[in-house]
Amino acid sequence: MGPVAHGGHCVARHEGRVVFVRHTLPGERVLVRVTEDRHPGYCRADAVEIRTPAPGRVPRPCPYSGPGLCGGCDWQHVAPDEQRRLKAAVVREQLSRLAGLHDVAVTVEELPGGPLRWRSRARFAVDRSGAPGLRRHRSHDVVVLDDCPITAEPAASAVLRHRWPGAGAVDVAIDSTGAVTTTRLDRRGHPQATRVLPPGSEVPAEPTARAERRAGGRDWQVEGTGFWQVHPAAADALVAAVESFAAVRTGDTVLDLYAGAGLFGGALAPAVGRGGRVVCVEADAAACAAADANLAALPQAEVWQGEVDAQGLAELIAELGDGPDVVVLDPPRAGAGPAVSKQIAATGARAVVYVACDPAALARDVAAFGGNGYRLAALRSFDAFPMTAHVECVALLEPIPPT
Ligand SMILES: C[S@@+](CC[C@H](N)C(=O)[O-])C[C@H]1O[C@@H](n2cnc3c(N)ncnc32)[C@H](O)[C@@H]1O
Repeated sequence: MGPVAHGGHCVARHEGRVVFVRHTLPGERVLVRVTEDRHPGYCRADAVEIRTPAPGRVPRPCPYSGPGLCGGCDWQHVAPDEQRRLKAAVVREQLSRLAGLHDVAVTVEELPGGPLRWRSRARFAVDRSGAPGLRRHRSHDVVVLDDCPITAEPAASAVLRHRWPGAGAVDVAIDSTGAVTTTRLDRRGHPQATRVLPPGSEVPAEPTARAERRAGGRDWQVEGTGFWQVHPAAADALVAAVESFAAVRTGDTVLDLYAGAGLFGGALAPAVGRGGRVVCVEADAAACAAADANLAALPQAEVWQGEVDAQGLAELIAELGDGPDVVVLDPPRAGAGPAVSKQIAATGARAVVYVACDPAALARDVAAFGGNGYRLAALRSFDAFPMTAHVECVALLEPIPPT
């Protein structure tokens, strides 16, 4: 078996074609079963018999994981420290292939809490009979589950020990007090009903209650199942990385783009002081309401509801007058894209701190920044999604000094 590739598989070659193989490790000899053969240049396969195991292989802790079973995890068969080495290799490879940076040192840092029961927020699918589960890899089929060992308890039980007739999916989140919020979605993905179970209780409370999360030494309010870092230790780790890369000074103007409930803007606001300014930009109305509440005691911080796109950003920057000193961005999986990256680079900000949940999108945007006068100055990566192929990165981009 050849090297690991982005997406939770390894690369093999057969009769001149690339084969992306799941459930294996680099260096293994395995028998594969082809699972998808639609493209002339490559096919997909599962390793179904391990002839020569790699040293990093371990028994899977989850009984639902394996070829043809639940598609939720990619690396259940891999020891956690080896998972982190695989993820580091993927980040390195993406930066090399997509950003032309061939010598970036990457270490994926472990977060506290172990590889299981870390998922504090999840979406489970529901089959036609109302049974909850997760989808098979690259399929719409629902694998019915009675537990998901990476999901925190009692959040997993709150969904998987019940039936949800007529629902298409169920979102669940557990906050830092232990309160569990479930939101039932219809088959089009629209929310239908929310239920909140207070800590240790089976009796639902008022569903308007906001979830509470703790990070950076303070409490934050979040909409029940709204966006918050999934791993309970991730928000702290990311805030610390963002603070150190941003190196904010008193009086600075900071933009926090794709701000969610205001986590990074709120963490940086005390350092800019009353003479500085932090503008958090977020599209989602409920997240903006949570951010407003979270930043209420920080008059130097404000929340702007709007889309981060090239036009919106141009208008925002024009309104700011002087350009921002520091820009933090934490876009969704697809990344910021070349137009937004170019617009941010045009501000001439002293530091751009890019938080990314997909190393491919990060690498493409780093390339866009590179074409607009910024270089990758530092990078940290975190294993915020153990057992899966996902990895969270924080990159510092700085203006390229004149030669
Ligand atoms: C990865 S989350 C980051 C949230 C926040 N930084 C945190 O760590 O809690 C991305 C956020 O971007 C918002 N978003 C997605 N697309 C957007 C866009 N085009 N403009 C503004 N916000 C957007 C989403 O609603 C979500 O809150």
